[in-house]
Amino acid sequence: MGPFDFSTGTTNPETFPTEELAAAAARTVRKHAVELNTYPGSLGHEGLRRLMAQREFDREGVRLDPERIALTNGSMQAVTLVAEALCEGRDDVVVMEEYCYSGTISAYQGLGIELVGVPVDGRGMRTDALQSALEGLRDEGRSPRFIYVLATYQNPTGSVMPRERRLELLRIARAHRCIVVEDNCYADVHYEGEKVPALYALDDGPRQVYLCSLSKIFAPGVRLGYLTASSAELFERIVERRHDAGPNTLAAAISAEYLGDRLWEHVETANRALKAKRDAMLLALESELGNTCSWSHPPGGLFIWVRLPDGSDVERIEAAAAEREVSFSRGTLFHVHGGGGPYIRLAFGFSRIPDIHEGIARLARSIEETGREPA
Ligand SMILES: Cc1ncc(COP(=O)(O)O)c(C=O)c1O
Repeated sequence: MGPFDFSTGTTNPETFPTEELAAAAARTVRKHAVELNTYPGSLGHEGLRRLMAQREFDREGVRLDPERIALTNGSMQAVTLVAEALCEGRDDVVVMEEYCYSGTISAYQGLGIELVGVPVDGRGMRTDALQSALEGLRDEGRSPRFIYVLATYQNPTGSVMPRERRLELLRIARAHRCIVVEDNCYADVHYEGEKVPALYALDDGPRQVYLCSLSKIFAPGVRLGYLTASSAELFERIVERRHDAGPNTLAAAISAEYLGDRLWEHVETANRALKAKRDAMLLALESELGNTCSWSHPPGGLFIWVRLPDGSDVERIEAAAAEREVSFSRGTLFHVHGGGGPYIRLAFGFSRIPDIHEGIARLARSIEETGREPA
């Protein structure tokens, strides 16, 4: 990745604990030599499952049984496993935010699932529109296999769904007897403001599936995520779909060894540095693009969602920015049907602060130049 690569939601190499992790890796290999010579089973390394149960308890106040947590190859494996388990291979519909994580959109489209997009606003998925979407499907004699939702630090918009709207979403899902799959990939990448409870922590019903990850608080390279479900039957149905002989024990055991007694200290250090990067990008946007564009002020997560001037040609801006070694993600990638307005998504986790300033100045020149030239 180059210094002005704002395209991917990576963590911050500057706070990566290289030496401590190397020491944890050496201890782990010695400690777990026997376990490393066996298959992990479908749930994976128990130490990391216990640690993730503790993480959820500390954040949500909910006690998860580690035997009801399955480690996955990043949360992305959980995103696809859930769909493979809950879809039937014909007339499959999933309801999701109209602007949503591009990886999920392409995975689900690749599985032949019809996606119904629900409009979002600054507070996440609009529940009035969710209600209409579910009623529309019911009138056609159909029901979605599940609702997929990013309630916290939504990717790409950065919004957080307030508690009242979460309760309304859960009420609507219950009324339609619909499973809710909550992807909380950015949980704990928190900078300021209230921490709103996860959906699963607000609902006692049997139709909740919860996905989380170590990618955004630790490192995407460890490829560790996890899933749980509110009923044993639902959990087993999903885990049964797994045919990979289980998650990587070495990565899980090293991560558990390193994070075991310093999870929250690690998260706090990482978030402090990421917040400084977010603030640097907000400041750079204000000084370079304050007169022409508008953008989100995300209280957590790794992205700023920028609205370019109406009529902008995003592809030409992308090409002009690439000539200046700047990259970003086009907003259309995050739209369920590849449409939407003139948006781009900027990731701020990877670049150094001086490069954020320089990269946004280069981006601004690309936008201005493209706006002046005839298409
Ligand atoms: C909402 C969401 N879910 C899942 C993922 C996949 O993350 P990973 O597989 O690294 O946990 C991402 C990555 O950007 C994401 O934004």
